Amino acid sequence: MAMVVLGAGGGLGQALTLELHSQFPDEEIIALSRQPQTGLFDSGKITYCQIDDYSEDSLSAWVSDFKSGGKQLTGVISTIGMLHDEQTFPEKKLSDITADNLTKLFSVNAIKPLLALKAFVPILDRKKTWFWVQLSAKVGSIEDNYLGGWYAYRSSKAALNMLLKTASVELRRTHKELCVAAIHPGTTDTELSKPFQQRIAANKLYSPELSAERIVEVVKHLKPEQSGGLWHWDGSALPY
Ligand SMILES: NC(=O)c1ccc[n+]([C@@H]2O[C@H](COP(=O)([O-])OP(=O)(O)OC[C@H]3O[C@@H](n4cnc5c(N)ncnc54)[C@H](OP(=O)(O)O)[C@@H]3O)[C@@H](O)[C@H]2O)c1
Repeated sequence: MAMVVLGAGGGLGQALTLELHSQFPDEEIIALSRQPQTGLFDSGKITYCQIDDYSEDSLSAWVSDFKSGGKQLTGVISTIGMLHDEQTFPEKKLSDITADNLTKLFSVNAIKPLLALKAFVPILDRKKTWFWVQLSAKVGSIEDNYLGGWYAYRSSKAALNMLLKTASVELRRTHKELCVAAIHPGTTDTELSKPFQQRIAANKLYSPELSAERIVEVVKHLKPEQSGGLWHWDGSALPY
């Protein structure tokens, strides 16, 4: 049996890979990342695979290999997501918006995660695969948007939530044991949050290890009838 982490090279991806490994010692944990292996995952039960930018072709090729190896999939946690890079920074106001930034964040935060789910469908076992989890963000909650700003990140995570909800409705018909879930990890000390950490109280900025522990705790309690939900790291449901 195997569990997969997509985006295993990032702050939460690395911590989640190690947390799954410690909580599910009998499972093989497969860490997929665009980045070359760093040596962090030295355990025999963690397999590291480099993948080409989560393209449809590279995901399909990986899925075919997995299938031909006769392994069964227990679940997947995808951390794929971005907030900023060298060219992109969260917008404060309408005049900061560019089509390029919106397009980039929708591609990474909403489209890639959904195409990953699409690629994995052939190996979602109808009896054995019980979770498909994608890290989302509370700021993607439309109801919870009181502060404004961060147009591209907020809206791409809201789109992600809708895409996952829609997939959950479809998959519920065929995969009765599966729970599709979006989880907000809480503000975690990673590259993604670095530029914004000075505004966060020290006790509200969590280590990747603590966030990973909390996320896996939420995952362990997911039930198929809850499929399509958006969850806070403490296990409470968040509004869309
Ligand atoms: N940190 C926080 O405070 C926080 C708060 C709320 C939500 N989140 C969400 O949690 C998830 C993990 O974030 P993190 O804090 O661990 O950030 P991170 O260290 O930057 O990791 C983000 C992951 O997304 C993948 N990724 C980034 N840019 C990409 C691109 N252009 N194309 C394809 N994949 C890309 C990377 O996968 P590779 O391994 O392939 O490089 C990386 O592992 C994200 O979805 C983020 O939105 C984080």
